Amino acid sequence: MRKIKILIVDDDKRNVKLLTEKLNFDGYETDIAYDGLEALEKVESFEPDLILLDIMMPKMNGFEVARKLKASEKTKYIPIIILTARGEVEDKVLGLDIGAEEYLCKPVSLTELSARVRSLLRIRMLQTRLSEMEKLAALGQMVDGIAHEVRNPLMAIGGMARRVKERITDEQMQSHISLIIREVERLEKMIERIDEYKKFQVSELKEGDINDVIADAVKDIQDIIRGKTIGIKLSLLHDPPPLMMDKTTFKKAIFNILENSVEAIDKAGEIEIKTCPSMGGFLELMIRDTGCGIRAEELKNIFNPFYTSKMSGAGLGLTIAYKIIQDHKGDITAESEEGKGTIICIKLPLSLVRMAQ
Ligand SMILES: Nc1ncnc2c1ncn2[C@@H]1O[C@H](COP(=O)(O)OP(=O)(O)O)[C@@H](O)[C@H]1O
Ligand SMILES: [Mg+2]
Repeated sequence: MRKIKILIVDDDKRNVKLLTEKLNFDGYETDIAYDGLEALEKVESFEPDLILLDIMMPKMNGFEVARKLKASEKTKYIPIIILTARGEVEDKVLGLDIGAEEYLCKPVSLTELSARVRSLLRIRMLQTRLSEMEKLAALGQMVDGIAHEVRNPLMAIGGMARRVKERITDEQMQSHISLIIREVERLEKMIERIDEYKKFQVSELKEGDINDVIADAVKDIQDIIRGKTIGIKLSLLHDPPPLMMDKTTFKKAIFNILENSVEAIDKAGEIEIKTCPSMGGFLELMIRDTGCGIRAEELKNIFNPFYTSKMSGAGLGLTIAYKIIQDHKGDITAESEEGKGTIICIKLPLSLVRMAQ
């Protein structure tokens, strides 16, 4: 898993050392810039997830750095914590007005700093998830709209082309019209898949046992493992807490994920399905494979409708899984390393009925 990266910008070497030690201890990767200009360069090359920014620095002060970062589309979403010995109210107001997310006065308590960092990273993560959800919902609506508009004209084109084909004797014309029919059929298949996608409406959520559903999905997946040696390892909670589920669609979501794992494994490999309790009343379901993995720049697309890297893929498997998990009020994310494998992680809320008892 990629470590979260924090850029520390401060000309005071002792302070930098202190902050670096603390943040590394907390598990973050850090880099350092000793002045404002270097800070801008490091933001480009290091691509931090968060910036700690001193104000009084040589070459360019922290306010100016923050102003520049917040003015650029590429860097304006990186949270900034201004960290300075200057504690005047006007300075705080200026820093926050420029767009810095947080303002801490030196000497800062390292415990408080840790908590602020965690809180800002959490907000940033939620913002990213929200915008991803909105993007996928918009894409889904667009795909739906296009399918609706295309269906009728396509039927007319296909129908007419087939009729014309029966009447034509000219060989070259026959081949042209056959091409039209083939392409129409391809589009018809696509529309069929969109209809299928829409069919996966989650109906009533009922209390259910996740182990049963996993066992069912695994049984189905065994049928498609042909000519490959794939070990499926189950690391499941013995007596899992009940979840609110629509078993049919939930099984489909797991099946689609497993199907990708099987397809990602070339000849031999392993798939592990693991469940464990997670903080805040959730259950975590992880599906890990030792397949080909996904390149970092492709990872952000895998839930998009029609995104596929396969010759005959529809690119809807994970879109369907995403929608089903969302309808279960859950969350689905992916981590992957090219050449090593992929982990799909699903977080589901525990059944409140049982928890309240
Ligand atoms: N476990 C995995 N290993 C490697 N690549 C994956 C995995 N899961 C998904 N992908 C990538 O995400 C893409 C989209 O998956 P999906 O929506 O199921 O569509 P499809 O399987 O039809 O291509 C796949 O084409 C593949 O590139
Ligand atoms: Mg698939």
